[in-house]
Amino acid sequence: MTVADTATTRTPSAAASRPGGSLPAAVAAYFFGGAGREETLRANEAAWQRLHLLPRVLRTPAHISTQIQLLDRTWPTPWLAAPMAHLRLAHPHAETGLALASATQGAGMVLSTQATTPLEDVARAVQGEPGRGPLWFQLYPYGTRAQWQQLAQRAADAGYEALVLTVDAPVQWPQTRARAAGFALPTDWPQPNLPAPAPQGTLQSVLAAAPRWEDVAWLRANAPLPLLLKGVLHPDDARTAVDEGLCDGLIVSNHGGRVLDGLPATAAALPAIVAAVRDRVPVLVDGGLRSALDVVRALAMGARGVLIGRPLIAALADGGAQAVASLWRQWRDELGALLALCGVEQPGELHPSLLQSA
Ligand code: FNR
Repeated sequence: MTVADTATTRTPSAAASRPGGSLPAAVAAYFFGGAGREETLRANEAAWQRLHLLPRVLRTPAHISTQIQLLDRTWPTPWLAAPMAHLRLAHPHAETGLALASATQGAGMVLSTQATTPLEDVARAVQGEPGRGPLWFQLYPYGTRAQWQQLAQRAADAGYEALVLTVDAPVQWPQTRARAAGFALPTDWPQPNLPAPAPQGTLQSVLAAAPRWEDVAWLRANAPLPLLLKGVLHPDDARTAVDEGLCDGLIVSNHGGRVLDGLPATAAALPAIVAAVRDRVPVLVDGGLRSALDVVRALAMGARGVLIGRPLIAALADGGAQAVASLWRQWRDELGALLALCGVEQPGELHPSLLQSA
């Protein structure tokens, strides 16, 4: 399949005047809403905008590269599509369309455990793309350890290069915009990568299934791929993970404000984690990044890469794989210009001295 083959089957309607505006209201609430009063959801975006660039002049580099180094490899861009569940609700191109469009533009992809496409199909779609970004698999540890191991092995066999263990969603916050809008998954909804059904029922009944540090240690020892932890906000947790050798990377994330409300914006949490980790493993960040400018801010704060969520869902919903490709293309062009205007040759040279808090 190529991005051209995925020419959209959905005609954009006049209702699509805002991103993802063509989606049914309950589905839009699921994709774009958050938990509680959505304080965290709003804080994420606003916090990046409070950081101003303080560029250096008269040192425009002769060359610009958007490449980064991550987990011992060089990649064309500093961004990956964040793991996001149920993308088939946004567009029939779903995860394969997102992965292929991302690969053609040098972006990476983290496939969700709750994807609606078998992980092998997604891997096959991108593997022929020479300029693609990283391909990682996100793991929700549902079921038994043997089931996680089986799924991790499936991902490794299919060509995924790392596992992303999401640690910030052991239980669901009961009040979400999606729930208020009456969102429910259709019956017989495809979830071909789920190791076991997600724990459900009363709060008390799901507590026993929540992952703990000893599970991370077990996975790290038994998984066939490098392991990143996604959803770390407290510097003490970052220190534990790195001091005890439990991960190959950390993703500072508050799940896009979808799980626990009242969390700090990721832009506010990032500096303390970067300081705690002291470059021993790469730190990535997601949440509220809405432009290449926001990405420059995140990289200048010390993130080695970023994950992007809702902007990609909006693009996918509005124009399928082609719209996703065009979003990434625009961001990459902008990133090149931003690096030049900041006086740096590549993302790795961005530095906190280029930032000023408003
Ligand atoms: C998510 N996110 C998420 N994270 C994860 O680890 N596994 C998952 O299955 C999902 N599913 C999911 C669905 C939807 C609709 C959204 C919007 C998000 C969280 C995601 O990976 C990421 O942390 C945030 O989306 C980043 O914030 P922005 O860019 O959406 O603001």
